[in-house]
Amino acid sequence: MTDKLIIFDTTLRDGEQSPGASMTRDEKLRIARQLERLKVDVIEAGFAASSNGDFEAVKAIANAIKDSTVCSLSRANDRDIARAAEALQGANSARIHTFIATSPLHMEKKLRMSPEQVLEQAKQSVRFARNVCADVEFSAEDGYRSEIDFLARVVEAVIAEGATTINIPDTVGYAVPELYGNFIKTLREKVPNSDKAIWSVHCHNDLGMAVANSLAGVKIGGARQVECTINGLGERAGNCSLEEIVMAVKTRRDYFTLDVGIDTQHIVAASRMVSQTTGFVVQPNKAVVGANAFAHASGIHQDGVLKARDTYEIMRAEDVGWSANKIVLGKLSGRNAFKQRLQDLGVQLDSESEINTAFAKFKELADRKSEIFDEDILALVSDESVTSEKEQFGFVSLSQRSETGERPHASIVFTVAGKEVRAEADGNGPVDASLKAIESHVQSGAEMVLYSVNAISGSTESQGEVTVRLQNSGRVVNGVGSDPDIVVASAKAYLSALNKLQSKADRVAAQG
Ligand code: KIV
Ligand code: ZN
Repeated sequence: MTDKLIIFDTTLRDGEQSPGASMTRDEKLRIARQLERLKVDVIEAGFAASSNGDFEAVKAIANAIKDSTVCSLSRANDRDIARAAEALQGANSARIHTFIATSPLHMEKKLRMSPEQVLEQAKQSVRFARNVCADVEFSAEDGYRSEIDFLARVVEAVIAEGATTINIPDTVGYAVPELYGNFIKTLREKVPNSDKAIWSVHCHNDLGMAVANSLAGVKIGGARQVECTINGLGERAGNCSLEEIVMAVKTRRDYFTLDVGIDTQHIVAASRMVSQTTGFVVQPNKAVVGANAFAHASGIHQDGVLKARDTYEIMRAEDVGWSANKIVLGKLSGRNAFKQRLQDLGVQLDSESEINTAFAKFKELADRKSEIFDEDILALVSDESVTSEKEQFGFVSLSQRSETGERPHASIVFTVAGKEVRAEADGNGPVDASLKAIESHVQSGAEMVLYSVNAISGSTESQGEVTVRLQNSGRVVNGVGSDPDIVVASAKAYLSALNKLQSKADRVAAQG
């Protein structure tokens, strides 16, 4: 019999803490549904006490998800834990995840608490959490930089109080695989009641070793839960990436001898959904989900793969959800075919009216672009105007003039709280002119910190997907827009970022 490796996804909590990656309640709900389709064991839906918005998101996810455990983070205090429990009330299976820092640096400089006070607070909060939830995870923040004997005392005490999962994060991404694996192993040996809980790893990617460290925590340390995010999204350099850890354990089952319950065919759709929702583009050479991950460019490789696939391929593209880049729908496709394709792609729209809006957008796109690929459909349904009717700003139309030797000019019509406005401006290029035209009316004062264009299906005939990152009064947001015309895609992305700036989210940083 093999052990099972529990996959704990924290895209909606730790991933969302990445600057600019904050998501609306509806966006989180859509991603949670995709995670359920992936058969993720635990979905960390958010940090209920951090804001009303996150509370509502955790609550909505808890009510909607049936097959995965839904979890909320909470600091180690009664108020946070009670709020998490309240948000999780409707869940089929709920988990409270409480944490406190245990490293000398964090205890002294951040918490300004003595080790004994931290130990007491950890015990008390797990005791309180166990009274309101049967499934309680305890995390020792900055665990890897903690003194091992003190950490062992804390862990022993919280297991005695009823913690069912013990997580030892490498919060700052400082670990190296062998040392981290041995740290978990030694710690488990030092804790007399270690067999009463499941051990978990949570690694950040500051030195690019999050996946390797997590695997060492599993192989050497004996951890049976890995905390990870889609596309490795997360604070700073991100977290351990779900797709990499899952495919490593599956592909090298001979070595890890562990089972994972993930339905890998939904991985690529999940990756696209997270990237399009957050505006965090996936690098082409990213393992498993990058556009080049299964592309063989060199003649020798192509020849080998044609003769025998396994000469150069260790995984099958279709097993992680890469369908061949085929034309799926066109101008003449009907609503049923469109609905079926959405289903095949694992996209669930919540109402008939959302399907109608998406279908209308599909028809509009098919009029301008003869071949519609899966990627186009995914971009189309990620478009905010499909899933949300009440945005402050909405794109209507745009015209622009640019000619060699002349200063480009743009004229744009967009809605502000449902009312159409027209704005015009010159700029260095047509994109610049269009965004300046919007800004001349909105006057957000936001600073643009990133602008990037990506061809969705890889050719000049494809849609351009634009990401715009804006910063204003300490807030950073990403807006994404797609259209065969990249000037229009840019205007949509800019409006989408302005919408996000509008929605006020007062968050408390978990590691803050
Ligand atoms: O990185 C970390 O330490 C965390 C904890 C809050 C679990 O995200
Ligand atoms: Zn973290």
